Amino acid sequence: MPKIKEQRMEDLPKLPNTFEWTEYNSRNPFPAGTWNSEIFKNDGPIILELACGKGEYSTGLASLYPERNYIGFDIKGNRLWVGAKRALDEKLQNVRYFRAYIDHLDQFFAEGEIDKIWIIFPDPQLKKDRKKLTSPKFLDLYRPLLKKGATINLKTDSPELYEFTLEVIEDLDLTLHRNVSDVYKQCPEDPELSIRTYYEGMHLKKARTIRFLSFSLD
Ligand SMILES: C[S@@+](CC[C@H](N)C(=O)[O-])C[C@H]1O[C@@H](n2cnc3c(N)ncnc32)[C@H](O)[C@@H]1O
Repeated sequence: MPKIKEQRMEDLPKLPNTFEWTEYNSRNPFPAGTWNSEIFKNDGPIILELACGKGEYSTGLASLYPERNYIGFDIKGNRLWVGAKRALDEKLQNVRYFRAYIDHLDQFFAEGEIDKIWIIFPDPQLKKDRKKLTSPKFLDLYRPLLKKGATINLKTDSPELYEFTLEVIEDLDLTLHRNVSDVYKQCPEDPELSIRTYYEGMHLKKARTIRFLSFSLD
C-alpha cells in the first residue's frame, strides 16, 4: 500500500468527525438512534451520502445548509480521510464520516432516523443487480430507517444504472420526484446538482452525460 494511503487509514479513526466500524457482530452495538441527541446535538434532519468516496457532497451540502446534518458513508478509509479533513479545515460542525459497509446500515440507524439519502456515482455493478445501491435488496435495507416521504437521490454517469433504477421505481410503484436525463443541459444552475465529485470530474473529462433521479419509497 502506498505510504500516504497507509498513513491516512491510520489517522482516520483519530479524526474527531469520523467513525469506523468493523465489528458488525460486536456485543457493544453502535448506539443507533442517537445521531441527533448525542452526536450532532441538535434536531436537524439526518442526511446520508452513500458511497461518498472523498465526500464532496457531504461537505458541499453541509456548507449550503448549516442547519442540516450530513453523514458520508464509504468503506475506503483513505478517501473518507480527504472529506473528513476538509470538513475539519472548513470548521463544518454538521458533517461526519463513517467507514463501514453500507450493507450494515441498519446497525447504525434506528427506525425512521434518516431524512434523505444521496447516492453519488456509485459503482454501476453492471453484472450484479443485487449489488446496485438502488436494487430492491438495498431499498429494503433503507426503507425502515427512512422517515415517511424521505427522498433517495441518485446521480450517475451510467445509463444502465439510471435505466435500472427507473425500472425498479416503476416495478415497485415508488414515487418519482425528479428525472433529469442530462444534468448540465437541463439544470446547469442547480446548486445541489452542481457539486462535483472526484469521479464526476473523471466522467466529465470523457464527456459522459450525467443523470439524476429523485424518488421516495412511499
Ligand atoms: C465510483 S466510487 C464514487 C465515489 C464518490 N461518490 C465520487 O463520486 O467520487 C464508489 C465508492 O463506493 C464505495 N463502495 C462501494 N460499495 C460499497 C459498500 N458496499 N459499502 C461501502 N462503500 C462502498 C467505494 O469504496 C467507492 O469509494
